[in-house]
Amino acid sequence: MKLHADCEKLLFSAEEIAAKVKDLAARLDEEYRGKTPLAVCVLKGAAFFFCDLVRAMDTPVQVEFLRVSSYGSGVTSGVLRTERTFPFDPAGQDVLLVEDIVDSGKTLRFLKESLLSHGAKSVKTATLLDKPSARTVPFSADWKGFDVDGGFVVGYGMDYAEKYRDLPYIALLKREIYRR
Ligand code: IMP
Ligand code: MG
Repeated sequence: MKLHADCEKLLFSAEEIAAKVKDLAARLDEEYRGKTPLAVCVLKGAAFFFCDLVRAMDTPVQVEFLRVSSYGSGVTSGVLRTERTFPFDPAGQDVLLVEDIVDSGKTLRFLKESLLSHGAKSVKTATLLDKPSARTVPFSADWKGFDVDGGFVVGYGMDYAEKYRDLPYIALLKREIYRR
């Protein structure tokens, strides 16, 4: 598959992603044996990862989708809010939050705290990518696929200005595309 012209470099091919998803699914199956977790997808970026992950798991799950908006635009996240309250009741549930990438840590930290305060029995987090050097709040995911270092990544659900989500691979976006 040819790399999109706006991309600097291929980071993870579709095959590498699929192998990682399989590996994560096996680890989640171990964790949730005998349970039926509520898998929650953080829209829109995690949608592709989420659908592949829950299908690779043997554990039965229920699925919910959550839209999180951040005030302030660009490549950093601002103050977060969920669209309303949760469109489902997390009370008593073993929630598995699924995210595409952890950057500042604000999104998952905020969601985890909110879900727990709404009575979730447990909240664990799985992210495909992690940028540990970008944290502005303390957060570490329970499961992660790959670490990425600097730069802005797109593909396999992840966007810049709503573009590139449909690329089957994950690539580093050229700096001149997002630098303002
Ligand atoms: P956090 O709250 O700063 O951890 O932000 C996480 C969210 O920011 C992710 O769900 C992504 O939507 C977005 N994000 C952060 N870094 C990137 C990136 O390199 N590419 C695409 N989206 C990103
Ligand atoms: Mg996201």
